[in-house]
Amino acid sequence: MAFRVNKLVTIERHISEQQELHSSATGSFSRMMRDLLLALRIISREVRRAGFNDILGVTESQNVHGEQVKKLDEFANETIIRAMDHGGHLCAMASEESEGLIEIPEEYERGNYVLLFDPLDGSSNIDVNVTIGTIFSIFRRVTPDRVGNGHEDDFLQPGNRQVAAGYALYGSSTCLVYTTGQGVNMFTYDPTVGEFFLTQENLQMPDRHNSYSINEGNYHKWNDELRRYIDFVKDPSYGHASYSLRYIGTAVADIHRILQHGGIFMYPGDKKNPNGKLRLMYEINPLALLIEQAGGRATDGKNRVLDLNPEDIHQTAPVFMGSKANVLEAEAFVRGEFPSRPDN
Ligand code: AHG
Ligand code: MN
Ligand code: MN
Repeated sequence: MAFRVNKLVTIERHISEQQELHSSATGSFSRMMRDLLLALRIISREVRRAGFNDILGVTESQNVHGEQVKKLDEFANETIIRAMDHGGHLCAMASEESEGLIEIPEEYERGNYVLLFDPLDGSSNIDVNVTIGTIFSIFRRVTPDRVGNGHEDDFLQPGNRQVAAGYALYGSSTCLVYTTGQGVNMFTYDPTVGEFFLTQENLQMPDRHNSYSINEGNYHKWNDELRRYIDFVKDPSYGHASYSLRYIGTAVADIHRILQHGGIFMYPGDKKNPNGKLRLMYEINPLALLIEQAGGRATDGKNRVLDLNPEDIHQTAPVFMGSKANVLEAEAFVRGEFPSRPDN
């Protein structure tokens, strides 16, 4: 459910109007977002042209997680760095595709923010023309030497300190979903005028929807509690209709659907990877902030993910997020609390 917008408002105007509400705002945040939007527009253009360019395929290199990096991932990574390193707003960056922190070159000014990003989420879907996206998360720096480079401590903050988070989704249209902690707004890109227009204001997700999103091929690796939850959602003898399974394999696309239709997304820990697969800082925290801001819930099965204290910028965490009632239901199973069938 969301308030549909009739007026024509571009994202840049929307951001600067929001900033003007804060008397202390210097405009640096708005200008930083303007730089990021440029990168997202360029990535969107390149995604749209991917089939025509000789840009598809796998490079020789692997990323820090041991996965093969596709060329479009590298392009997106470089584009964001090139758009963001000289604006004077950031003191460092971190990317899922780069091992260490990305420093601001000597010749440019350093600012008060750090940016973390997953340049292309869903990279296994690039070659098959299925939706992919870019996820970003912004914190204010916490180290005292405000003129120098950012440090690891500036990044290792819990997700509840994000000053902004969002994603661009390269789907049937390109859209941008974004929060500064005051609700979630959605913008749709019109490539003919080169602008993102506000299309949904203050998006609120449904409290429950009978759909689930998980890589069920991992069933044999899960513990009994989680298996029982997945058995439950498919079993109408509990008195509910079977839940629909929807799994794109691009977390940001699954979350985009859930933000609008409701349901639950899970990437749990399993026997092989007790902390799951998704990256806390690049994927889970920004998506969790959006989900919470839209009235949903995001946990690792027990704890609110936004309160987790990260120890490593590349760490992974288990995640259960989506509509409040669905996530609470899954958490009860994870705790070993199982409902009985109505006919028992
Ligand atoms: P990335 O392309 O940035 O590496 O992320 C892929 C992630 C996420 O988007 C998706 O939900 C998940 O990997 C899919 O993993 P499985 O193939 O294990 O289901
Ligand atoms: Mn990803
Ligand atoms: Mn990625």
